[in-house]
Amino acid sequence: MDSFEFYSPTRFVFGRESEKKTGDLVRRCGGTKVLLHFGGGSVKVNGIYDKVVASLTQAEVPFIPLGGVQPNPRSGLVREGIDLCRREKVDFILAVGGGSVIDSAKAIAFGTVYAGDFADYYFGKDVKAPKPVPAALPIGAVLTIAAAGSEGSANSIINLEPGNLKRGATGEALRPKFAILNPMFTYTLPPFQTACGAVDIFAHLVERYFTPTQDVMVSDELCEGLMRSVVVASVKALAEPTDFAARSDLMWAGSLAHNNVCGAGRVQDWASHGIEHELSALYDCAHGAGLAVVMPAWMDYVKDTDLARFARFAEKVFGVAPADKTLMVDEGIARYRAWIHSLGLPLTFRELGAKAEDIPALVAKLGLNGNTLGRFRPLKDDDVAKILESCAR
Ligand code: NZQ
Ligand code: ZN
Repeated sequence: MDSFEFYSPTRFVFGRESEKKTGDLVRRCGGTKVLLHFGGGSVKVNGIYDKVVASLTQAEVPFIPLGGVQPNPRSGLVREGIDLCRREKVDFILAVGGGSVIDSAKAIAFGTVYAGDFADYYFGKDVKAPKPVPAALPIGAVLTIAAAGSEGSANSIINLEPGNLKRGATGEALRPKFAILNPMFTYTLPPFQTACGAVDIFAHLVERYFTPTQDVMVSDELCEGLMRSVVVASVKALAEPTDFAARSDLMWAGSLAHNNVCGAGRVQDWASHGIEHELSALYDCAHGAGLAVVMPAWMDYVKDTDLARFARFAEKVFGVAPADKTLMVDEGIARYRAWIHSLGLPLTFRELGAKAEDIPALVAKLGLNGNTLGRFRPLKDDDVAKILESCAR
């Protein structure tokens, strides 16, 4: 295990009616005027918005609403939010939604207190040691989809316009002070979004699991247990959308998969995420759907780097019986694809709506500039192109 510092101070407030604590939590974090940030309207339709407003009102916390966050959140609304927060002297950002709303909230929280352009801190893949954002307004999240893990992460991913460059910022200041996790809030998700969320949670574990670091039994076992749980719970939640136990498991797994408890002390990969972000930037597809296509293809491409680790993944996550390692590895990846397919998600460029002729542009936009992507198996431009070409066949 490598040396590490683990500091992940988000307060997770889990359970039925946990949103009733929102107003008090904002107060405890020092918030006196809130930006209430949300997406395209699902929270108004399903009543979550009204519940959060009731809690803020009861705690006598004034708020200003700003809706309209699109999946793959855009910089235009971030800039609008920054202006609004400065003008109205907002001192707390409350995100009610999924990864896109939370990431937009984080960008606004940072941009409001930063004298320059918030995009200065949103870096590309050629940046090896990104500067962490220095400060931000405090952020809280009321989560409505188990997926991105942004409710406990120190990252924000924004589509920078013009050009739709999907870029990330990082820094402890971006980690939410609290996250309200009411699994019942995810009952209204369309099946496609439930599936995308499960595949994203699984991917956050895969990015950490495939590592060159030796002797990391604790986090290996954490990753494997969470991956198995996500597979089982996703199938149950799709069969019965109001299965509280399955929704609970997905929601808590989503937070644990990405607050880095599973990644401490080990080198992590993140190549599949880097590649996927170019797909969701270009095609505006769901992040989980892009990962459903890219990650199994990445596995096929890099499996020879450490056959033993892939065989262990096959056995411990997908129950493949011990046999010849090469056969086990291929069977494990096949079962991973079968699970994704059973959730109704794409596995190929065609199913995703991506085009082979865009591959050179996707690779160019990734912007490696001679650097490599991923740390389990560092990839160059031509490796990325080959992975994408395999998705396009
Ligand atoms: O916009 P509304 O109307 O709310 O609808 C949303 C949206 O269309 C809908 N939805 C959410 N909760 C719902 C619901 N519909 C009905 N009932 C509910 N309870 O679901 C759609 C997708 O929402 P979105 O927030 O985009 O999903 P997700 O949580 O998957 O977030 C994806 C974004 O997070 C980024 C991705 O790149 C992508 O931009 N990521 C952020 C990370 C981070 N900050 O740490 C890490 C991830 O790897 C990821 O890259
Ligand atoms: Zn992800």
